[in-house]
Amino acid sequence: MAKIRIAVLCSGGGTNLQAIIDASGRGDLPSGQIELVISDNPSAYALERASANGIKSAVVSKKDIPREQRERIMLGLLEENGIQLVVLAGFMSVLSANFISRFEGRIVNIHPSLIPSFCGVGMYGLHVHEAALARGVKITGATVHFVNEECDGGPIIAQKAVEVLDGDTPESLQLRVMRNAEWVIYPLAIEKVCKSLLSKNNV
Ligand code: GRF
Repeated sequence: MAKIRIAVLCSGGGTNLQAIIDASGRGDLPSGQIELVISDNPSAYALERASANGIKSAVVSKKDIPREQRERIMLGLLEENGIQLVVLAGFMSVLSANFISRFEGRIVNIHPSLIPSFCGVGMYGLHVHEAALARGVKITGATVHFVNEECDGGPIIAQKAVEVLDGDTPESLQLRVMRNAEWVIYPLAIEKVCKSLLSKNNV
């Protein structure tokens, strides 16, 4: 059966990458296949996860290469590997409008809040959970969305709510959101997008 060729872009721990690899291993990603992992950080643990699972990887270092050149290299890698869907999983570089337009409707991201709360410029990593705790919300969660030129502004694909508990710290909340929402909905949403791309015969 045809599968959508996926690249996962990471910068750090890669726990979402791992959740997608695990889902694939369980047979829960029948419409897609991870063909490539790209990291903008040479010491990202995500690279170890790729190699431990026999997935090809590449480093396009944010520290050493200016954005325009980095994106040119990344676009080359995506093309060489026949990539049809780009999955951002803790990827800490902002993509240019030019890059996004080359993969319109084919880039997805996961954000650790219920968009439109606690999102947009500067809202990443622990900052998101700090803001949720500071506002005193009782429910937060995660959102999978398509990427467009507006930061965290693309069409929403999936969301899952997570309870905020008394005594939560940004770290404890981050972990609960990852475990109970991100790692659950990201593989499901990716399968949904791959299935839809296959059915549109738009691959
Ligand atoms: C996750 O919280 C994700 O929502 C955000 O960055 C974090 C990445 O974690 N975009 P990991 O690299 O997947 O472990």
